[in-house]
Amino acid sequence: MSKIAFRDITKRFPGARRPAVDSVTFAVPEGSTCMLVGTSGAGKTTLLRMVNRLIEPTSGEIIIDGKNVLTENPIELRRRIGYVIQQIGLFPHMNVAENIRVTAEVAGGWTQRRLDVRVDELLELVGLPPVEYRRRFPRELSGGQQQRVGLARALATDPALLLMDEPFGALDDITRTRMQDELLQIQRNVRKTILFVTHDMDEAFKLGDLIAVLDEGKVAQLGSPVDLLTNPANEFVARLAGADNVMRQLEFLPVSGALDREQTVPFPGWENVPECAPNASLLTAMLKLLETNAPALSVQTGNDSRVGYITLASITSGITKTRNKERQLASERA
Ligand SMILES: Nc1ncnc2c1ncn2[C@@H]1O[C@H](COP(=O)(O)OP(=O)(O)O)[C@@H](O)[C@H]1O
Ligand SMILES: [Mg+2]
Repeated sequence: MSKIAFRDITKRFPGARRPAVDSVTFAVPEGSTCMLVGTSGAGKTTLLRMVNRLIEPTSGEIIIDGKNVLTENPIELRRRIGYVIQQIGLFPHMNVAENIRVTAEVAGGWTQRRLDVRVDELLELVGLPPVEYRRRFPRELSGGQQQRVGLARALATDPALLLMDEPFGALDDITRTRMQDELLQIQRNVRKTILFVTHDMDEAFKLGDLIAVLDEGKVAQLGSPVDLLTNPANEFVARLAGADNVMRQLEFLPVSGALDREQTVPFPGWENVPECAPNASLLTAMLKLLETNAPALSVQTGNDSRVGYITLASITSGITKTRNKERQLASERA
């Protein structure tokens, strides 16, 4: 695992009116996935490509595990960092196994036998049964399967850090969803630090531990998905995060933020209502309320101490609270 920090990082392309990346400072803890979001041209790709030095910063520092990447040999650096892009660019004349091996071989020090085992492990990891896929050529794979091979290749050297630039952007909806689920699964097993560019907010909310919102080269906000929904820094973030998106709020806001009663004594008739965990989503609570037809759910922690009650009415007011915040931010600006 590896942690990464940007310190006052700026990139100004020659002749550009404003910097593509403008004094960006933030850090991503080891083992977390940070999603970079923002409108087109916000500087997401530029920021990502400065990490593996495909683009050189104008000023500032990028620190990986305490070391400034600018003092490192770029070739060495790229061996330690996986990179997955939308058009993965497999070598057409090499089969799947060979495409993955080239990366592992570059890293060096592995026996042929170890390389064979590693290729099969990686194919399993990305959901391509090795017996079926190792000898296929890229032209014999669907777009989604090619992306899987690209991901396997990026993981071949077991890099602690993974850079992903809209890796699923060109896939159809079903394949994209499947790849997202698999990335979550892989991340549960191998725990990389991931910087992931997307313009799809659903993807950002689904995959991100953290979301960095970029706007005209600057970080408008860095926070967890729930932070962005409940405490957007400005109207731009509120809109992007979808403060008015009821479904997203139901899915991501925790029950603990929408309790009906802080006190732990039940209303008459609430003595035997079903239970619910404080970190459950509002959606989970709502479905349980509808399914059981209970007037409320008792919200309690693992050791059975009750923190309050949740009702359909308190869920509605929890969501309205978040929506009003967006309106307030909009009127402050006006
Ligand atoms: N090689 C380059 N030369 C000049 N300008 C560039 C170059 N690459 C990107 N830019 C400009 O920098 C800005 C940020 O681009 P980019 O990082 O690709 O944005 P994003 O990935 O968020 O869509 C844009 O205005 C883009 O036109
Ligand atoms: Mg881009």
